[in-house]
Amino acid sequence: MPNALAFNARRRHPGSALPITPGASSTIRSDIIRGLGHERANISPKYFYDLPGSELFERITRLPEYYLTRTESAIMAAHGAEIARCLGIGRTVIELGAGSCEKARRLCRLIRPARFVAVDIAAEYLHMAAAGFRAACPDLEVRPVVADLTTDLAMPEDLPRAGRVVFYPGSSIGNFDPPQAAAILSRVRDLLDDDGALLIGVDLVKDADVLEAAYNDAAGVTAAFNLNILSHVNHLIASDFDLGQWRHRAFFNPAQSRVEMHLEAITGVAVRWPGGSRKFLAGESIHTEHSYKFRVEDFLAFLAGIGLHRIALWTDPRHWFAVVLAGP
Ligand SMILES: C[S@@+](CC[C@H](N)C(=O)[O-])C[C@H]1O[C@@H](n2cnc3c(N)ncnc32)[C@H](O)[C@@H]1O
Repeated sequence: MPNALAFNARRRHPGSALPITPGASSTIRSDIIRGLGHERANISPKYFYDLPGSELFERITRLPEYYLTRTESAIMAAHGAEIARCLGIGRTVIELGAGSCEKARRLCRLIRPARFVAVDIAAEYLHMAAAGFRAACPDLEVRPVVADLTTDLAMPEDLPRAGRVVFYPGSSIGNFDPPQAAAILSRVRDLLDDDGALLIGVDLVKDADVLEAAYNDAAGVTAAFNLNILSHVNHLIASDFDLGQWRHRAFFNPAQSRVEMHLEAITGVAVRWPGGSRKFLAGESIHTEHSYKFRVEDFLAFLAGIGLHRIALWTDPRHWFAVVLAGP
């Protein structure tokens, strides 16, 4: 994402980012306050993605420790011809959690779709990314759709049903607990006709040191990304989180096969927002993200349970990441 675009967006909306789902701010408020009041406090990872959060995530994708993006891209590049053969041209590509749309740009070069729909919760960043995509590919119809995958996956009414490919890269499906992931993929299944397909990237179980390094980079970008959720929450619910009182913590939980990200109170701290407050003891934490790590056979069984069956699967030489093509 060119910085100039982000800068211009901030000038249009001085102060900070827009609420992530404009018009739904009371829902957002009660969602966040419910999570903060929980015995094991949590903030949904969907609140990472204000403008600074989206930009920090882009920086994470370029970190040496963050093998996910580069491994997935290498798989897609190595098997591009086969992916193109499986999918053919002229389809409708729908990317979920599109972010910068970088990966979709490469996919669209491969399979030359008729149109591209970019779905994301982060409205402002999405519109900037879609504008960049349009400028780079003026012959392609590019349609941004602002949606929260956890509640809604409605497509524009005039979007053709035939020939859809839902592209869900980055192992973002791993950010949801299994029941929530199953609900999202069932919504995906409902978007597809018999000729439809899901192309999804998933991160595989591997050595805990590799996993933990990916979420604890030496440059501290992941820590900044994690802490930034507090400033977004301050904006959304007018709370008074002081970022200096919290530290980033990420570790692999083998029993749950997931990397967990938390924000830990450095000292005892009270956080206030209009109508409420919460005290945290030193060392008490707010859970911000899960990133489930999969075994290939478990993930394929999970997809099959939703009615999505393996068409093809590609992985890297170290078997760190898999790209799965599945269909009804
Ligand atoms: C980990 S980033 C992945 C971005 C990009 N697809 C990639 O693979 O590099 C997750 C993306 O999903 C979006 N996102 C997170 N939660 C979401 C939700 N509940 N509904 C829709 N989009 C969401 C974020 O705004 C962000 O762009």
